[in-house]
Amino acid sequence: MTAKRIVVAGGAGYIGSHVCVELLQAGRKALVIDNFANSSPVALDRVREIAGGNVELLRADLADPADAERIVSAVTAFRPDGAIHLAGLKAVGESVAEPVRYYAVNLPATFTLIRALEAAGARLLVFSSSATVYGDLNKSPVDETGALGPTNPYGRTKLFIEEMLRDLARADKRWKICNLRYFNPVGAHASGKIGEDPNGLPNNLFPFIAQVAVGRLPKLKVFGADYPTRDGSGVRDYIHVVDLAAGHVAAIDYLAKEASPGAVEFNLGTGRGVSVFEAIAAFKRASNRDIPFEVTARRDGDIAEIYARPDKAEKLLGWRATRTIENMCADHWRWQSANPNGYRDE
Ligand SMILES: NC(=O)c1ccc[n+]([C@@H]2O[C@H](COP(=O)([O-])OP(=O)(O)OC[C@H]3O[C@@H](n4cnc5c(N)ncnc54)[C@H](O)[C@@H]3O)[C@@H](O)[C@H]2O)c1
Repeated sequence: MTAKRIVVAGGAGYIGSHVCVELLQAGRKALVIDNFANSSPVALDRVREIAGGNVELLRADLADPADAERIVSAVTAFRPDGAIHLAGLKAVGESVAEPVRYYAVNLPATFTLIRALEAAGARLLVFSSSATVYGDLNKSPVDETGALGPTNPYGRTKLFIEEMLRDLARADKRWKICNLRYFNPVGAHASGKIGEDPNGLPNNLFPFIAQVAVGRLPKLKVFGADYPTRDGSGVRDYIHVVDLAAGHVAAIDYLAKEASPGAVEFNLGTGRGVSVFEAIAAFKRASNRDIPFEVTARRDGDIAEIYARPDKAEKLLGWRATRTIENMCADHWRWQSANPNGYRDE
């Protein structure tokens, strides 16, 4: 059995738009639910340009009780096989400043989606978790049995949702769930038509570098060069967003074919750590632009090094990341240089 009709909550966002492309190119149909809190409808027009028309849109707020009935009806009418749940707020710093808002959006959005899937009788769910659930408790490479201890409210929303989904799968064996722990998604679709388009000052390294390279920001801040790593800067496991998106198709297909997997966790990463200075050098080569930077103090809550052991996903999902840091930089740059203001020009 394959899952043919998929609800994609948060499907207009950075990762969700790439997930939609992979689903459509694999011959599936998608119903996107998004309130465009952090995205643009233009992203879905671009998805259609790349991969054809099999994507419907329901503009609704998954965390707003006033929208719940409309969501349940639309999901039921779509007759889905399952859902991929990417909707939520995701900025670590903002979650420290406004923790209640993070809990009040990320948890209820998940409740509503579960309710809608129950109503539709579709109990396959792939959830966007994050490597942030591991906090700084583990030595890298970290596998899925690593200790869990997120260091900020955003990460705790991910851990709480994972725990709730594990409880759900234990209580009702009809539910089949994957908690995908993403490492650091970067890059863009090779067409240059979709990519990451952060509002305001980017929180993550790659959009920051890209906006410096394109001249939108004067210089990059490197938060700490005194970590106990090979060059003093922080080390992360960057994964190409198209590889990550392909992991979602593999995950939903795995759930469709397994009889009773329960709730299963997967690391989606490359297994390789790249330092901030190495990422800057790679982006410089890809863009042929200068990337001025200054080293500033460490950022609260940042850790020295984390990268994945991705073996479980390879073994059970038959998936592994294939794109290199050079591919990530080249594709990120193609998107950024073709769309210096993201989707705002349309
Ligand atoms: N980008 C990363 O570095 C990263 C890493 C680990 C996990 N994740 C998780 O992956 C998911 C997708 O991340 P992204 O980078 O694509 O973020 P994004 O902000 O681009 O996408 C999230 C989408 O959800 C939508 N959304 C938010 N709240 C909503 C609501 N209440 N109702 C309906 N739609 C809503 C937004 O408008 C957006 O389109 C998120 O859950 C995020 O926490 C992201």
